[in-house]
Amino acid sequence: MKDDLVEALIESARAVRECAYAPYSGFRVGAAVISTDHRIHVGCNVECASYGATLCAERAAIARMVASGEKRLVAVAIFVDESEPAMPCGICRQVIAELGPRAEIISSTLQARKRATIEQLLPDAFVLNRDG
Ligand code: THU
Repeated sequence: MKDDLVEALIESARAVRECAYAPYSGFRVGAAVISTDHRIHVGCNVECASYGATLCAERAAIARMVASGEKRLVAVAIFVDESEPAMPCGICRQVIAELGPRAEIISSTLQARKRATIEQLLPDAFVLNRDG
């Protein structure tokens, strides 16, 4: 992916983080995905008093991508205002692998960046193969 696109994706994740609803953890996350048609879709974490109902920023962004008519993602940017970049949780890795089996993950803070492919983060991902 070109450098200017990477920067735009990170900036989108940084901006949408401001909308995060995280009253329980105080850990605000912004995510932006880019689909194969080069559109950017953003999402933030949405927490819930019933903690298990919490939605991660990555899946929120992916849901918006799918709702906009796109089913393939190329890259995911994640932004947190912490000392270390945050990598996607296990559930988000599975969803990213489903819609972007070759996706690149770029996780950023104001000072640091970490990059990986989804294949590195979730090797040998589950796929549903039914026989008969
Ligand atoms: N969170 C995300 O948004 N993405 C992740 O990949 C990991 C965790 C959110 C969920 C929760 O609102 C907060 O971070 C603390 O776990």
